[in-house]
Amino acid sequence: MALLLERYPQVRHVHILLRPGKDCSAEERFWSEAAASPPLEPTVSRAGKEALRAKISVWDGDIAAPQCGLSRRALERLTGAVNLIINCAGKVDFLPPVDEAFRSNVDGVENVAGLAQRIGAKLLHVSTCYVCGEADGLIEETEPVVGFYPQRRGLDDFTFRNDEELRHTRALIRQIYESANLDESTTRPRPRDLTQRLTALGKQRAAGWGWANTYTYSKSLGEQIISSTNGLEYSIVRPPIVESAWRFPFPGWIEGGRTAAPMVLMALDGLKDWPVREDAPLEVVPVDMVAAAILIVAHLLLRGLHEPVYQLGSADTNPITLGSVVALLHKEAKKRARRNGRTGPAGILLNRLTARRGRSRMRFLSAEQVEERQRKFQQTIARTEHWVGSMKEVLRRTGLPGRQLLDNWSAELRKMDLQARFRQQVLDQYLPFVLYNRYIFESENIRAAYASLSEPDRQLLPWTPEKIDWKDYWVNNQIGGIEKWVQPQAVRDWKFKV
Ligand SMILES: NC(=O)c1ccc[n+]([C@@H]2O[C@H](COP(=O)([O-])OP(=O)(O)OC[C@H]3O[C@@H](n4cnc5c(N)ncnc54)[C@H](OP(=O)(O)O)[C@@H]3O)[C@@H](O)[C@H]2O)c1
Repeated sequence: MALLLERYPQVRHVHILLRPGKDCSAEERFWSEAAASPPLEPTVSRAGKEALRAKISVWDGDIAAPQCGLSRRALERLTGAVNLIINCAGKVDFLPPVDEAFRSNVDGVENVAGLAQRIGAKLLHVSTCYVCGEADGLIEETEPVVGFYPQRRGLDDFTFRNDEELRHTRALIRQIYESANLDESTTRPRPRDLTQRLTALGKQRAAGWGWANTYTYSKSLGEQIISSTNGLEYSIVRPPIVESAWRFPFPGWIEGGRTAAPMVLMALDGLKDWPVREDAPLEVVPVDMVAAAILIVAHLLLRGLHEPVYQLGSADTNPITLGSVVALLHKEAKKRARRNGRTGPAGILLNRLTARRGRSRMRFLSAEQVEERQRKFQQTIARTEHWVGSMKEVLRRTGLPGRQLLDNWSAELRKMDLQARFRQQVLDQYLPFVLYNRYIFESENIRAAYASLSEPDRQLLPWTPEKIDWKDYWVNNQIGGIEKWVQPQAVRDWKFKV
């Protein structure tokens, strides 16, 4: 939206559907949060809040609710007044309880498609390249959307029926709620056991068909709903991993820290054993290029010149392997350790240790090695805890001093164990994308779309992944951006946990 308003100030009107805040309306939330954010704030300052208020309407809504939670008055006002809906709402956690994923990625998409039809708008839907599921190699963007499942054996395999899958999973969700004597619409905190069962259900439905997680499974179901909505004019835009800005609003800007941030922070923290496939391309695209691509597709969709699917990969023109990215991060971590050199006797000792840490080599681990290391580590922790426990008992019986020290060791061991488990959990979520599969996303449609623009529009909406110097991007935009813009609180929490 920031790119649209900044590069195309002549845009007539933008309607925004937003969930209200805890204590404020969507409108208040928009002007206090979004309009004040680094990408939008400069445009708001330049154009003036009042001038922008005249061309921006903010509606309280929730795509998971019927008619996206819009009032009758809002629907009347929007009918015939909106040419295009861009749906970028989504539940992006990889393994949420399945009903939560469904609310935004399935029911929500159904509601948005219905809204588009009702008010006479076209629909641009933001999905993800990873709807392809478990795979190895080139992922074509011409594969039909309806009836797709990752284990599909050719175009005459009609095993997967989206409507049946939806019916089946929704029935299972209902059963889980009924067995807990709860209503699905409850706003009370759910018992832990219920959440676990709903999470397990999502995992199981996804894995059964070959999707890597509940997120990609639910996003694929959403795509299939759109594709099978009669009479709807739509395009589906599939980014891969969206990361820090290349140029707009400025190099390195990023919000949230869900995808690469934990890995970057782990690398800077000194992680050396990487469960990644060294030769696999890492499909990352800067957020401003994704925004540009969305506007390019919007333009073609409005003119009726669109394709059904646009993948926004970078590896089919400008690949960088995971091995190279990890090596870059590792080198940067060593540099920083040296730069943060300390003084004084304790500092010199720490510098020595850090320097030694920095010299040790990083390694790429296979899935088996990951499991083996995890097992050995847990064994060592258990043995040490047992030894500490026995020593405590001896001290208790003999009355000798030293119990406090052993208590501290116990606490330290528990912390190490938790840290290792959490680190493993984070890595586990990434394994389908960095270890078990290898993806290159064919992105011919967006290249052709970009080439069809006039030269001035190409300047305003650069879709140029082939121009990215990945080394410069990873060191300056990514590491720099994550350190500066990923919520300091989130980083602190994450570091605390890891
Ligand atoms: N990040 C990536 O690497 C990536 C890659 C590929 C595709 N995508 C897709 O890009 C889109 C945006 O993702 P993101 O990374 O920007 O995620 P994000 O920061 O979590 O943003 C998702 C947005 O969706 C909104 N939303 C979720 N459920 C909603 C509902 N029921 N009604 C209204 N709004 C709802 C959220 O609203 P609140 O602010 O009210 O919570 C949030 O603003 C998603 O569709 C995602 O699948 C992202």
